[in-house]
Amino acid sequence: MRTPPGTPPEPGAPGLSDATRGRILFGGDYNPEQWPEETWPEDVRLMKEAGVNSVTLGVFSWARLEPRPGAREFGWLDRLMDLMHEHGIGVVLATPTSSPPPWLGRLHPETLPRDEDGRTEWWGSRQHFSHSSAVYRRRAAAITEDLAARYGAHPALTMWHINNEYCTTDHGDEAAGAFRRWLQDRYGTLGALNTAWGTACWGQSYDDWHEIVPPRHAHYLKNPTQVLDFRRFTSDMLLECCAAERDIVRRHSPAIPVTSNFMPMWVGQDAWRWAAEEDVVSVDLYPDPRDPLGAQYGALVQDMTRSQAAGGSWMLMEQAAGAVSWRTVNHPKPRGLNRLWSLQAVARGADAVCYFQWRASRQGAEKFHSGMIGHAGEPGRGFQEIKEIGAELALLAPHVAGTRVPAGIAILHDWNSWWAGAHEGALSARNDYAEVLRAWHRALWEAHLTTAFAHPEHDLSGYRMVVVPQLYLLTDRAIENLTAYARAGGTLVCGFLTGVADEDDRVRPGGMDERLRDLFGIRTLHEWWPLDPGETAVCDGFTGTLWSEEIEPGPDAVVEARYRGGELDGLPAVLRRGTARYLSTLPEPPALRALLTGAAEQAGVRPVLDELPDGVEAVRRGGLLFLLNHGRDPVTVEVPGSHRDLLGGANVRDRVRLERLGAAVLAP
Ligand code: GAL
Repeated sequence: MRTPPGTPPEPGAPGLSDATRGRILFGGDYNPEQWPEETWPEDVRLMKEAGVNSVTLGVFSWARLEPRPGAREFGWLDRLMDLMHEHGIGVVLATPTSSPPPWLGRLHPETLPRDEDGRTEWWGSRQHFSHSSAVYRRRAAAITEDLAARYGAHPALTMWHINNEYCTTDHGDEAAGAFRRWLQDRYGTLGALNTAWGTACWGQSYDDWHEIVPPRHAHYLKNPTQVLDFRRFTSDMLLECCAAERDIVRRHSPAIPVTSNFMPMWVGQDAWRWAAEEDVVSVDLYPDPRDPLGAQYGALVQDMTRSQAAGGSWMLMEQAAGAVSWRTVNHPKPRGLNRLWSLQAVARGADAVCYFQWRASRQGAEKFHSGMIGHAGEPGRGFQEIKEIGAELALLAPHVAGTRVPAGIAILHDWNSWWAGAHEGALSARNDYAEVLRAWHRALWEAHLTTAFAHPEHDLSGYRMVVVPQLYLLTDRAIENLTAYARAGGTLVCGFLTGVADEDDRVRPGGMDERLRDLFGIRTLHEWWPLDPGETAVCDGFTGTLWSEEIEPGPDAVVEARYRGGELDGLPAVLRRGTARYLSTLPEPPALRALLTGAAEQAGVRPVLDELPDGVEAVRRGGLLFLLNHGRDPVTVEVPGSHRDLLGGANVRDRVRLERLGAAVLAP
């Protein structure tokens, strides 16, 4: 189970290409059990019209498949599988285990998770299962076994979809037992655990394993390493559930790839480790149509997902054709945005563009969530746009499917560091890891520098430049990896609060690991000076936000920018030694962009195109150039030479016009 991060897929293992077979998968979650059976033929007719070639079935159908303990009702699914096959539509078949039937909770209340305050999460919604419950696991395995036995050889089956967005926690008693076993496995002895957790503080030492419980409602700040280990444990437990189901379906259908859909940038799963256990990496992505940086957020998640797929193709399992139903205010997508963001996913490596869901529901919690067919039905704008997208993806498929997206820069990201840095006793509650990561990715995205993501222990030698927005916790191995990379001439740019803690969240002597201080030319890190909301730090040539640090440079450090005024007057804000730079603040967006662009230039990494109009994104995939206009006005983009626009079919010479929210995909 402990596959190291970044492990490439085993040779001969099935992958996304076994499901796509040269196409781009297009379709979505199909929940026909919510509709009378008479609508199914109509659904299929419309799917064919829209170019749908893939549907995801069964995601929440446990109660339908097993209405009472041990019963099996497969007839409806038999008919659906056959119907799909008859019409050449592939099925991504889900194990239904993310929403157990009400009888399971009634007969076995221990399958229901408890939150930190001891409150039970009841049925009546979804995801009400405890990852540690033996009964849940047994029942989940049984229904998965029967599903896999029945459909593992069905000709419509193209992929297995395990559970749905694993994301639950459990602080209850059965989870407490599993947590203890996990800790015994990690530490061996209570002495080692007490040392790792620093239980000498506040008299927390444990003398018996049974004294250990998950972090629960407590009077004051909780032990940070206990909380960190609980997050690690939770991610591992969910992965155990996922792997158990994966192993069952694999036994019945070894040639069918397996996935489990990630939530984008979800804090609860160490997705590096998860991805290494899957045949296909898939993600659900719902940027806010009103967010001016929605496209950048999308690009970040797409770059991350592609990197989890070891740089290969990945699957956009879910997106919305229009509005979602879980924001405070749910806005639809203006005309063109669904197409634009779908093309963006393809540009950044997706070989599958799918939706939640095929048909907007009339009942249930998500009745106002858009569908590929909305409440307006066939004549609705949404469905008309879906048809256009389906046709375009079919056009693009022969040119893009299976091709790769070159990226010269790696952004380092690690869940352990995110978890540890988020502790309630942190230096500043304003220091939001995900926001800092996003700020750095944004700077590179706006500079048209294509990025990959990497784990700090990955082999970095393939990248000309590596950036570390913030890795508060770094293992010794990661530190050796980073220092070796820079010493071998790699360009490294590192943000504040990096290398502070070791694997157990113990502060490193000197407040930052000595090897890193030496690398960046930091003699002493005297104090951290986090900034208040609205407070800024004036630096040479730019304004710093969020953070500042009192650093004394070593003799051979080059101070590239200093703080001006205030307590830190004259001290370094940006420090460089050789090819390694350290930023002790978060420069405002244009300054961070300029800084990273400068470093990239020195590293010999070029933007995809120079001089693009504002709001235009350019990405290369395979031999193609994707141009995406996120702006609300038409623009003209200079593209020297002659090209063919695969979308419009026109020949393009030297420049191409992009409509509002328009796109071009240029082939040589
Ligand atoms: C996803 C989930 C889907 C649906 C969708 C709505 O998180 O997997 O089942 O709820 O969100 O946006």
